[in-house]
Amino acid sequence: MFVILHAYRLVPVIRLLINVDHVGTLRNARKETFPDPVHAAAICEHAGADGIVFHLREDRRHITERDVRLFRETVKGKLDFELSTDPEVVDICCDVAPDLATLVPERREEVTTEGGLDVMANRKHLDRVVPRLYDAGIEQVALFVDPVPEQIRAAADAGANTVELHTGDYANATTDADLRTEAERLAEGARAAHDAGLRVHAGHGLDYNNFALFRDTVPHVAEVSIGFAVISRAVLTGMDQAVRDMLAVVKA
Ligand code: PXP
Repeated sequence: MFVILHAYRLVPVIRLLINVDHVGTLRNARKETFPDPVHAAAICEHAGADGIVFHLREDRRHITERDVRLFRETVKGKLDFELSTDPEVVDICCDVAPDLATLVPERREEVTTEGGLDVMANRKHLDRVVPRLYDAGIEQVALFVDPVPEQIRAAADAGANTVELHTGDYANATTDADLRTEAERLAEGARAAHDAGLRVHAGHGLDYNNFALFRDTVPHVAEVSIGFAVISRAVLTGMDQAVRDMLAVVKA
């Protein structure tokens, strides 16, 4: 793997996949056709992102089937399809055959994914879904789990070849001490995943401020999925140009 020298240590370069769900949230708030998450994905890739992530929820609150089909046709880098074990969504995922399928817990009333999968409790569903995903030609199947060694070993047992470590507790920590504690938990989880032969991904709540400590503390991370921080910043950093463009129209 390609490495760079960082603070006198050789560390792997982490791939960045951008989650574009919240472009769909904005579009759907007005039941409009724009802003288009597919268009956003193309801009992300043009800017250098290594791939695109989306979550097709059962309630289709942000990403729709139309988006999924167009992502498959247009995304040039890695495509990560987040899904629950809902049979209809699993069928769509198998049909689309993304590069990576990441299984996540899903509750209709939640604002966003609230925690990792309980792999042991969901084993029956996972035993049905994980082999189907591989059979559909999907090479990488990840389970989104909290950084708990038992859950991570259970993910390997359930046939996943990758775990995505849930970084939400780390992102929500409010003191330096808690941040360090959560970073250490993630590091322990990453080591357990590596020892179990799993590839390590991470995501949820990672942002411009909390990434450095995460990167410097947690080993073996090949890939991160970041959405909200990037989409939120894009809204504000694009505001100046958007107002200038509208002024040009209004004052013409
Ligand atoms: N990974 C998973 C499994 C997620 O559910 C989410 C949120 O949709 C993310 C990563 C990205 O989180 P955020 O939008 O907070 O960067």
